[in-house]
Amino acid sequence: MRLRRVAETAPREAIEGNPAWKEYVDTQANDVPEASLDDLVETQGYAFGTPTRFGNVAAQFKAFIHTAGGPWSQGQLANKAVTSFTSAQNAHGGNESTLPSLNNVFYHWGSIIVPSGYTDELLFAAGGNPYGTSFPSGGGGDIPDEVIKAAHFQGKRLAEVAAKLAG
Ligand SMILES: Cc1cc2nc3c(=O)[nH]c(=O)nc-3n(C[C@H](O)[C@H](O)[C@H](O)COP(=O)(O)O)c2cc1C
Repeated sequence: MRLRRVAETAPREAIEGNPAWKEYVDTQANDVPEASLDDLVETQGYAFGTPTRFGNVAAQFKAFIHTAGGPWSQGQLANKAVTSFTSAQNAHGGNESTLPSLNNVFYHWGSIIVPSGYTDELLFAAGGNPYGTSFPSGGGGDIPDEVIKAAHFQGKRLAEVAAKLAG
């Protein structure tokens, strides 16, 4: 398994204006390698996460996805299992709109989209977002155990489908 992050593309002044963003960019982000097109080509499945930005996918994530025209045109991204997750500040601030927006890309890639659906009881306790795990961060504090369990379930489901596709 590979953990990757997309490159930060926002201007430094925008990052400096948000203390939590600045802290992330200056500390945690440095511990995770940047995603490359080789990562997309060499792996069997993807779990893509993006914060919700105005009800949609973050521009930084889109910038990375938009570099994938080469491997896409050679069929190197087709037939892979893909699932997605997000966080919006508010319960109704885009948790359900961001994931289908992101998944639109994967129809073009010929991916096998793996939503959480309502395939296990534990998903109801996590908010019941059938598109993928999501978490309204507005209340602050740690991510609840129920949401972590739903994310683990989603990852396992992705791995099972990816393994079947890989034969
Ligand atoms: C430019 C921008 C747009 C945002 N748009 C939304 C939004 O449409 N709905 C929402 O609930 N939260 C919105 N947020 C808040 C984030 O979704 C929230 O921070 C979320 O938990 C993602 O976590 P992160 O920003 O720490 O990565 C926005 C934040 C920024 C900086």
